[in-house]
Amino acid sequence: MAVLTSRVGTLSFRNPFLLASGVWGESGESLLGAWRAGAGGAVTKSIGAEPRPGYPNPTIEEYGRWGLLNAMGLPNPGIRQYPREIAIAREAGVPLLGSIFGQDAREFSELAVAMARTGVLGLELNLSCPHAEGLGSEIGQDPALVGEITHAVKQAVKLPVWVKITPNTADPAEIALAAEAAGADAITAINTVRGLAIDPELGRPVLAHGTGGLSGPAIKPVGLACVWKIAEKVRIPIVGVGGIVSARDALEYLLAGASAVQIGTAVAFEGIGLFGRLPGELGLLLDRLGYPSVSDTVGRAHRPTVPAPPSPGRPNH
Ligand code: FUM
Repeated sequence: MAVLTSRVGTLSFRNPFLLASGVWGESGESLLGAWRAGAGGAVTKSIGAEPRPGYPNPTIEEYGRWGLLNAMGLPNPGIRQYPREIAIAREAGVPLLGSIFGQDAREFSELAVAMARTGVLGLELNLSCPHAEGLGSEIGQDPALVGEITHAVKQAVKLPVWVKITPNTADPAEIALAAEAAGADAITAINTVRGLAIDPELGRPVLAHGTGGLSGPAIKPVGLACVWKIAEKVRIPIVGVGGIVSARDALEYLLAGASAVQIGTAVAFEGIGLFGRLPGELGLLLDRLGYPSVSDTVGRAHRPTVPAPPSPGRPNH
């Protein structure tokens, strides 16, 4: 069977399927549950300096199995309360990254220091929530600010730092380049795609916040295109996220240039049992396609070895 171990810089995971920040990882028990189900590792809920209740309901609109539009508003218990949850998962050996969000370089670096003390293996900077005023993608669309925050965090802690970037910008690869230049150890791409649902009967947006972020299978092509373009520009590893529900989806991301993948919305649809299913399915798929390991797949679509099939009606020169 193909080797499923996944390496993202200095971090190594038993398989490339990581729990994405936000959907399931609020409590220590839920992080631990994902690991026990078979996940390669997990990223915590995004944590800020103070407790945040999030937006009022409704916060989610479903599009069948195609996607979710959400605007939760970064609800979280704050960095002083959250370490007790991390301790539950860390003591059980879960490879954890701590996700943090803030409003400027100073707040990010203070949070980074506090999060590093909890024993997480690395940090993920949420510079990409598409609807939080003064946070997330409002900062993460500016390459200079992304560079400033990444640099400040790298100065403050010794842990690997992944920067989670937004697709809601003209050139996500430019943002990734700014993070790399400032010392980021990996890029996580992508966060949700900004969207809006309107209720015609009520004549107003469905979500209390108005706009939200679209996730799920509908955004897989967007995520893949971002990973593809970023892989053409940066040398640090990429962690792909967006619409993955199957081993085949994950392999697409690996071939586009990701070294590991994260899963969020599929967990909301299927439950954490999917972490027990996906590694075996990926192993079988890699065996069938002749890849000896996950690492042999990374970025291979940029240098294909199998000739393209002839297009119907066109000679194959
Ligand atoms: O609404 C939310 O909490 C979303 C966060 C994110 O997309 O990062």
